[in-house]
Amino acid sequence: MAIQWFPGHMNKAKKAIGDRMKSVDMVIEVLDARCPGSSANPLLESLSGRKPKLKILNKRDLADDARTQLWLDYYSGQSQTQAIALDASERGNAVKLINASRQLVPNRGGIEKPLRVLICGIPNVGKSTLINSMLGKKSAKTGNEPGITKAEQRLFLADDFWLYDTPGMLWPKIIVPEGGYNLAASGAVGRNALDEEEVSLELLKYLSHNYFDLLTGRYQLDYEHDEMATWREEQWLEAIARKRGTILSGGRIDYQKAAEIVLTDFRSGQIGNITLELPNEWTKWLAAARVF
Ligand code: G4P
Repeated sequence: MAIQWFPGHMNKAKKAIGDRMKSVDMVIEVLDARCPGSSANPLLESLSGRKPKLKILNKRDLADDARTQLWLDYYSGQSQTQAIALDASERGNAVKLINASRQLVPNRGGIEKPLRVLICGIPNVGKSTLINSMLGKKSAKTGNEPGITKAEQRLFLADDFWLYDTPGMLWPKIIVPEGGYNLAASGAVGRNALDEEEVSLELLKYLSHNYFDLLTGRYQLDYEHDEMATWREEQWLEAIARKRGTILSGGRIDYQKAAEIVLTDFRSGQIGNITLELPNEWTKWLAAARVF
């Protein structure tokens, strides 16, 4: 799946993040709980070096709880790393985030030695929503489009807890093909940059293997269970199109419209609580793509 890149902007952001990294004690990375591996940016890993890291699995309300727990265990097993799962709009997130950060860097605290934290995340993982809800603001979001520079902000969650918002923008980086599809399905990739039909077919393939009951439950398809269990993803899309009546003149199926329905349903949680990757799947994909 092709994605448009803006190397100039990326290099600028990389430099700015690298500069800021020198004066922070730890890094918070906001991830999408539905695809934690894919929504991480490997650049951050290299820029942050050995600094303690807090991974936030955001949008937990849309993700599969059992799988979220597996991801939390996976990250907590990494050195200098902690992980918590959040729904950005919930109350009490600031306390959870501050407590987890203080555990990671116990030697900082008090007005003299405030804990300085950089918060990062690729677009659409919910970083702005989280920051705004923690600050009790409605919205302070600036553009995520290329060319719109987001001024770096220092936010005071407590007198001795300084949160720096990412200078520049952390771009999504697709390092394995499955990750590209998962980012696209979750909405992290702009609509113009993806082929919705292709993405919906990959999504249906994964859902039919891993969330068969949720899929059949959502679309109430009038077929035998055993028959559907043998379907390829194209057959799922066709059946959904017929059920939802996305039919063009002459009886042709409007696959584009059906794809939009599936993606919108997935993104809004209408199909159910779903996570598109497991830690062991993610590491397998990395190994297959020879990315370590
Ligand atoms: P960003 O700064 O990382 O780019 O992401 P942003 O906060 O703009 O959030 C992207 C979308 O994700 C927004 O939806 C936001 O409401 C939604 N979102 C953020 N956190 C959560 C969460 O924990 N759970 C759920 N369910 N949704 C979350 P949107 O449709 O793009 O905009 P809006 O009209 O809902 O604000």
